[in-house]
Amino acid sequence: MHHAAVFSVGPRAPLELRQVTTPTPVDDQLRILNEWTSTQPFDIHKADGGLAQYPDIMGDGSVGTVVEVGDQVKRLRVGDKVFGYMWKTSQERGHQTYAVTHERFLAKIPSNISMPEAATVPTNFVTVFHTVTSALGLPLPWPKPDSYVPSSTSDAILIWGGSSSVGQYALQILSYYGYSNLIAVGSARHHAHLKTLGASKTYDYNDSNIVSQLQRDLGNIPYFFDCIGSVSSSILPIAQLANNGSRVAILLPLIFSPPTPTSAPEYGYDVATVADWAPGVRVTSVRTHAYEDNEQLARLLQPEIMPALLQAGVVRPNQYRIIEGKDILERAENALKALREGVSGEKLVWKVADV
Ligand SMILES: NC(=O)c1ccc[n+]([C@@H]2O[C@H](COP(=O)([O-])OP(=O)(O)OC[C@H]3O[C@@H](n4cnc5c(N)ncnc54)[C@H](OP(=O)(O)O)[C@@H]3O)[C@@H](O)[C@H]2O)c1
Repeated sequence: MHHAAVFSVGPRAPLELRQVTTPTPVDDQLRILNEWTSTQPFDIHKADGGLAQYPDIMGDGSVGTVVEVGDQVKRLRVGDKVFGYMWKTSQERGHQTYAVTHERFLAKIPSNISMPEAATVPTNFVTVFHTVTSALGLPLPWPKPDSYVPSSTSDAILIWGGSSSVGQYALQILSYYGYSNLIAVGSARHHAHLKTLGASKTYDYNDSNIVSQLQRDLGNIPYFFDCIGSVSSSILPIAQLANNGSRVAILLPLIFSPPTPTSAPEYGYDVATVADWAPGVRVTSVRTHAYEDNEQLARLLQPEIMPALLQAGVVRPNQYRIIEGKDILERAENALKALREGVSGEKLVWKVADV
């Protein structure tokens, strides 16, 4: 059996639709009919920025229906509607008709969210748990004890890029855990929304004096979560604000210049040398692909924690825009085009299989 898959074949080359062999799931694997997916910045890093082993199947998340299970699958059944973040092998990717992956990467879609909404969640929900616990060293215990109050409940956590998908999940998750001094940096048009997600104060990165505003209002800031990684417009301002003892988490890649409709991006990876950090600032680069290093997150994050927080309404999915196109290839290409043009406060989602 074969199915269609969207491949990136080289930096800024047109995507290609190719037929691939459909694997049979074994052991704890399942085969999913991919119905919805999102196009993430990681897809553009692959398609435009060379972060791929070409030819490479696109998409690191899947929303669809289980159609076949291996003999060690325990929780899920044929017919279940599922979603998850999975990226490791080409057969797990989202931008193809079928994905085959392991049960631990999947959860049933909660009854209160739609498939397109589900497509906005897994990558960046996982990114937030991984970044906060590993790079910032802040606990997010599960299950959360009823009376839980974190020891750093009132320490300022500055979320640079609050209106990004990662930033919106960070605000909601940190707020749920009782972190009450959440400072969000995003465009002014999103500030009211960011307050509903848990931001206690908001700032606009388009203000030329944002660094002095933050220094004046907040003084010492112990935690920085850079959801953007833009060298000029997030990392350098953060480097001016971070002091001895501050912890700074920066999502890779470091962006020297973003992809646009007419130019390729320039990326870097060395957070230590990209800015002049004050002595004693602890800067960490983040790769969500490493989240399974934490045994509890590997076991529970996607199957249990993610659907539970959505079902409880603690975390609301991102707003989204549906990308249209006559077939899977055109939809994938149109989504990349939209990312090159720039998105603001929304995820790009599209239908994969025409069912
Ligand atoms: N390394 C990893 O493992 C990992 C994991 C997940 C994500 N990431 C990376 O994290 C980045 C964000 O991902 P995403 O999915 O959250 O992106 P996204 O939702 O597409 O981000 C778009 C948002 O970024 C905001 N933004 C752009 N430049 C900004 C700046 N200088 N300061 C503050 N906000 C700015 C815009 O805010 P306004 O609308 O307010 O202007 C826009 O709403 C991407 O580069 C992605 O690759 C890395």
